[in-house]
Amino acid sequence: MKSVVLQLGRSLRNSAPLLRCSVHSGRPCLTSTAASKKKLEQPLNSEEIYAREDKYGAHNYHPLPVALERGEGVFVWDVEGSRYFDFLSAYSAVNQGHCHPKIVAALNDQASKLTLTSRAFYNNILGSYEEYITNMFGYDKVLPMNTGVEGGETACKLARKWAYNVKGIPTNKAKIIFANGNFWGRTLAAISSSTDPSSYEGFGPYMPGFELVPFNDIPALEKALQDPHVAAFMVEPIQGEAGVVVPDDGYLTKVRELCTRHSVLWIADEVQTGLARTGRRLAVDHEQVRPDVVILGKALSGGVYPVSAVLCDNEIMLTIKPGEHGSTYGGNPIACRVAIAALQVMEEEKLAENAERMGQLLRSELRKLPSDIVTMVRGKGLLNAVVIRETKDFDAWKVCLLLRDNGLLAKPTHGDIIRLAPPLTINEHQLRECVDIIHRTITSL
Ligand SMILES: Cc1ncc(COP(=O)(O)O)c(C=O)c1O
Repeated sequence: MKSVVLQLGRSLRNSAPLLRCSVHSGRPCLTSTAASKKKLEQPLNSEEIYAREDKYGAHNYHPLPVALERGEGVFVWDVEGSRYFDFLSAYSAVNQGHCHPKIVAALNDQASKLTLTSRAFYNNILGSYEEYITNMFGYDKVLPMNTGVEGGETACKLARKWAYNVKGIPTNKAKIIFANGNFWGRTLAAISSSTDPSSYEGFGPYMPGFELVPFNDIPALEKALQDPHVAAFMVEPIQGEAGVVVPDDGYLTKVRELCTRHSVLWIADEVQTGLARTGRRLAVDHEQVRPDVVILGKALSGGVYPVSAVLCDNEIMLTIKPGEHGSTYGGNPIACRVAIAALQVMEEEKLAENAERMGQLLRSELRKLPSDIVTMVRGKGLLNAVVIRETKDFDAWKVCLLLRDNGLLAKPTHGDIIRLAPPLTINEHQLRECVDIIHRTITSL
């Protein structure tokens, strides 16, 4: 009985705007409702999709004009049915390829059993994920979050707690050092360490206790670490958003040595570089060095769900006590199942090995492009970028539009840089086809 009353109430509420509209406006509401229903049912074309987003969505992005509706492996299709190679991989979240069947199956299976308990109760999945990921990366513990920026925020909070409880830095005096050009997300803390005006300008005041040194500059880091109030140095092993900036060989080894010598935590932000993207499980594995804290995100779910994680040992992790940090969705059963599947795919399909091989091939082919247009090729594994010489006739944006017309999607950054980062499942035949598209596009300029 109660449910009948509720349903009746709901249907009356739903019909109320229709009645009001036809009575007071004199407009034929039934017709307009039918029209908008038809509009909802009819698929929109690309132009209509751009216009709708432009009208109803915040203008905090400037997407390349292409409206996608389907993805599989290295390919995506737009609403008109054209197929493209995806050379952005959702900023390296889709390392395992679009809609990987094993990851999607884990998502679907868990979605019909148990989705969210919050951390107020135990669930039967979280522990198995924690055991799996800590064994894989060789750390005592993991703290699960959702987005990459929450991972960075968690790492900073851990560093501050450790600074006060273990290192003995006086209360509220802890400093965290970052590198110029860093990017770790869009929260107020993250933009407080940014050197990019489009990230931080107009959003002050900023988080205190953050300082900057130039990237890939060991003497500058050494000087900054003399300060006894420094708790941590947080750095990306390769700066992704800055335009795939690769430091000198040996930089990470020296970072490790300096942080150890000065009793400073080294936090490696592997949100973009991690999980096979650069040709190793972690980018720090290129130099076989072990950070004190590792942040993972993006491909930890293969692009199907927001999952991030912070890994470190007990001395650091156990400084945070119950009630001092958390997230409603962090470590939920779906996220954990998805993350285990995503990590398994990375191992089973030997994505790091493939990224290493395909990356070598890609860079060697890109270096054959006319050097008056492509002035630099850089990267590791399948995290690569080309620098375009801008002229009055073309820039990186225009090159990306032409690449799109030729069936390959990439995104420009900083005006003259194009990141080339396909899913790590790409095979040699596909890669050669992409090299051909890039070559044809660049030589047509
Ligand atoms: C290195 C790095 N850290 C953190 C982030 C933030 O991740 P999210 O956008 O999931 O918050 C990004 C995003 O691009 C990133 O590249």
